[in-house]
Amino acid sequence: MIQGRIQRGCLFADGHYVNSELQNRPQKMIPIEPFLKYLGDYAPWDFIVLGGDMWDMDYLSHWNSSKFGDIGYDRISEYVEQEARDVHELLKRIKKISKAKRIYYMEGNHEEWLWKFQELHQKLGRKTLDKWLKLDELDITFIPVNGVLRLGPHAATRHGECYRTENPAKQAIMKSHRTYFIFHWHKLIVWPGYSDVDETEKLQAYCVPGMCNVATAEFMKNQPNNWSCGFLNLYIKPSGKFTPCIVTMAPNGNFIFDGKEYE
Ligand SMILES: [Fe+2]
Repeated sequence: MIQGRIQRGCLFADGHYVNSELQNRPQKMIPIEPFLKYLGDYAPWDFIVLGGDMWDMDYLSHWNSSKFGDIGYDRISEYVEQEARDVHELLKRIKKISKAKRIYYMEGNHEEWLWKFQELHQKLGRKTLDKWLKLDELDITFIPVNGVLRLGPHAATRHGECYRTENPAKQAIMKSHRTYFIFHWHKLIVWPGYSDVDETEKLQAYCVPGMCNVATAEFMKNQPNNWSCGFLNLYIKPSGKFTPCIVTMAPNGNFIFDGKEYE
């Protein structure tokens, strides 16, 4: 993956975008403008990874299947078609502002609901997420649900919903035996790992905070929660060795990086 110089990447996930006007419910994604300004300030990026669940699609969840009839399939189709256009436009902005050489879009468990819904209700047709979002037009590489993206020889990333324990980062490192960046859990956890055989091998798994509003966890009935907001910068040397840098954000999307305020 790497030739010559240090590569800079930005990884973020779990925006849980909803069209709040169409759905008449609050937006879950944090105000994104400060982050977009930041991407622009440090452009061009070598790579950007959208790590899954950037699109919420709560109305397609199996948790809400009893409401499908009440919402109505025509209205659900309207939500999907409009929100697909919205997310495409957001991706177009990210591409333009970041000037990233490579962009990856990982499918999260929320986005997988779209495929499952289409299997049951064929009115929407049968299109995979990359087709809905027209990722080809934006030259964005699609990574289907449960896919792993390798970041050089020593690190990897995936959405991470499969690590269902109190400490997903710990389980991730025990299963992967490599440094690993996962999302989905909307909180910062760092867990160390090591090799019993090679004493120089030091590993870490990072559960990266999300880009959604920590005040609203609908499935937890909006009770207080341990979520946090943020993203990950990753600097990778030609050898594949790297330095991760987690940047945490306030729930309103504000943060400070390198002494500069983004608000
Ligand atoms: Fe997720």
